[in-house]
Amino acid sequence: MKILVTGCCGFIGSNFVRYLLNKHKDYRIVNLDKLTYAGNLENLRGIEDDPRYEFVRGDIADEAFVTELFKKHKDDNFDAVVNFAAESHVDRSIMGGDEFIRTNIEGTHILLKNAMHHEVGRFVQISTDEVYGALKPGEPAFTETTRIAPNSVYSASKTAADMLARAYFKTHGYSTFITRCSNNYGPYQFPEKLIPLFVSNLLEDREVPVYGDGMQIRDWIYVDDHSEAIDLVLQKGRPGEVYNIGAENEIANIELTKMLLKHLGKPESLIKYVKDRPGHDRRYAMNSAKIHEELGWKAKVDFESGLERTIKWYIENRDWWERIKTGEYLKYYDRWYGDR
Ligand code: NAD
Ligand code: TYD
Repeated sequence: MKILVTGCCGFIGSNFVRYLLNKHKDYRIVNLDKLTYAGNLENLRGIEDDPRYEFVRGDIADEAFVTELFKKHKDDNFDAVVNFAAESHVDRSIMGGDEFIRTNIEGTHILLKNAMHHEVGRFVQISTDEVYGALKPGEPAFTETTRIAPNSVYSASKTAADMLARAYFKTHGYSTFITRCSNNYGPYQFPEKLIPLFVSNLLEDREVPVYGDGMQIRDWIYVDDHSEAIDLVLQKGRPGEVYNIGAENEIANIELTKMLLKHLGKPESLIKYVKDRPGHDRRYAMNSAKIHEELGWKAKVDFESGLERTIKWYIENRDWWERIKTGEYLKYYDRWYGDR
């Protein structure tokens, strides 16, 4: 398998590359990443020199560039595209949505068009539970047939990308697959997201900003479980299908915050309740029965041990998140790859 994977300098993509190269000795991966603020080549430490891995810096929304890349590989063509590249942070989409529209919608379309035109066998669109909107307490978890109802510019842009992947299947018979996963946690997550932000703040004895009443619920999954599910969809999924991916770990933000404080031996006085996020989804929960029944997938990592492993990683890799928080990681790579 030779796969074009986009957005691998981010959190999930970098973990996915590591997972795939460990698991499949004969896979080759080309990582296409723009290196936005969220892209960090340090996330691929130990992989850069693997002959099965190649990094290409570029923008999925730059049509001329993407077309050239597919043309360049046509004699030794990609077998699949896996599209992780995205603007991924809800709070940033509240500040301004332009990049979300450009990358998440236009970028996905440019990839779909080129992958189909260049006869790449399969296209996996990495999506999110957020396309389903929010659940009320007691409502059943999202299934693949739950009505789509995104509430943020981020989730609306991801929904549009899903609809394009669906349309390429319905209209052109092109083999697209959509995976919708719940909130991921694990190593290399950018410290603007809840777990790495709170863990790194607490390690610096700083306050943690809990939005609103902290009673919003998220359904957490360890990143390697997500990678395994994508790998299975890539190999055995049915074209045109949507697969939900979740680990059945529904936890309120405040409860999770208190778990982090306890793990790190920090006082509850570091909790700071701040103004709520506008349009804040109250609850997400995933029903993953379909991928379990069709592909035999089930999450393996329980939340307690996954969280412990993750916290340990942020303690041991303090230099990694410190360089991000100070902006040092941007300067370092700009020397090699030019301004962002
Ligand atoms: P991330 O923000 O950590 O990484 C995104 C990566 O995409 C970065 O390396 C960035 O440089 C790259 N990128 C951004 N715009 C690009 C462009 N125009 N061209 C090429 N590369 C570009 O994101 P993440 O948390 O790893 O999420 C990856 C994917 O998984 C996203 O599509 C997201 O919607 C989806 N997802 C994330 C979660 C989660 O909990 N983090 C859950 C479900 C689905
Ligand atoms: P986040 O990690 O941004 O993921 P998402 O919005 O995609 O679910 O946020 C997870 C939850 O934590 C969400 O309900 C918002 C909340 N949150 C805070 O309370 N404080 C924070 O500083 C952040 C970043 C998130």
